[in-house]
Amino acid sequence: MQLREEGYFQTSPIIPDSMLQEMRECIEIVRRHGFPVMFSLVYDVFYSVFSYFDSILTHILGSEYKLIPNFWVYYIDPTDAGKGFEPHRDAEYVNTIDAHGMPTVLTLWVTITDATPLNSCMYILPKDRDPQYNQAIHDLKTNANQLALEDIRALPTKAGILSCWDQYVFHWGSRSSKRAPHPRISYAMYCQRGDVDPVDNAIIDMRNGIDFKTRLEVICKGMHRYSYLSVQSPDPRDPLLSFLERHIANLKNV
Ligand SMILES: [Fe+2]
Repeated sequence: MQLREEGYFQTSPIIPDSMLQEMRECIEIVRRHGFPVMFSLVYDVFYSVFSYFDSILTHILGSEYKLIPNFWVYYIDPTDAGKGFEPHRDAEYVNTIDAHGMPTVLTLWVTITDATPLNSCMYILPKDRDPQYNQAIHDLKTNANQLALEDIRALPTKAGILSCWDQYVFHWGSRSSKRAPHPRISYAMYCQRGDVDPVDNAIIDMRNGIDFKTRLEVICKGMHRYSYLSVQSPDPRDPLLSFLERHIANLKNV
């Protein structure tokens, strides 16, 4: 299958339009009030949508799959200044490929609006075109500097598609453009097999739902991981950093 050979796959559109519209409204409301769009994760729709992913995740990760609370919400403005994350491998957890070549940890990326080359769609280097992929499984700092440009694949992606890749595939969100007709809105998280040890400090069983307190802790964790720590040398006495760390510590397995 494509996941084993190329390290990623995409579904056809599987999320109903009404749900996509609700997600977009939630994100726009939070944004309009001046809060980081990560705060839209307080709303139910971002979790109830998992019912559409269940059979796919069960097929790949087994029926006991769990959510790793490592979320990010993207709102890439349709301007020349907008862009997604720079080229990287997710590479947070070492050696998450099993003996059959299948990932035990999966990145899930959900497009809420169409992602196109004009509004920062994803670009990916398929793993079978990446001479450094195998090294990256064991060495998370492995760069990708031996690629051929023609091996880079653009992934224009319709809204409502679930895209998945493993921890070591090299990918990025491209530069947006003022010519883009709308922003690129999406969100991402990780899932892992339930029959292997948790790779992070907490795992969540989606089948029980996620309570409000846990949602807020998930937001703190995402903001700490992807936003706050990008600041150079944060002062450890910084009250915001302390706040985020306190609530990440509260995030137990649920
Ligand atoms: Fe990524």
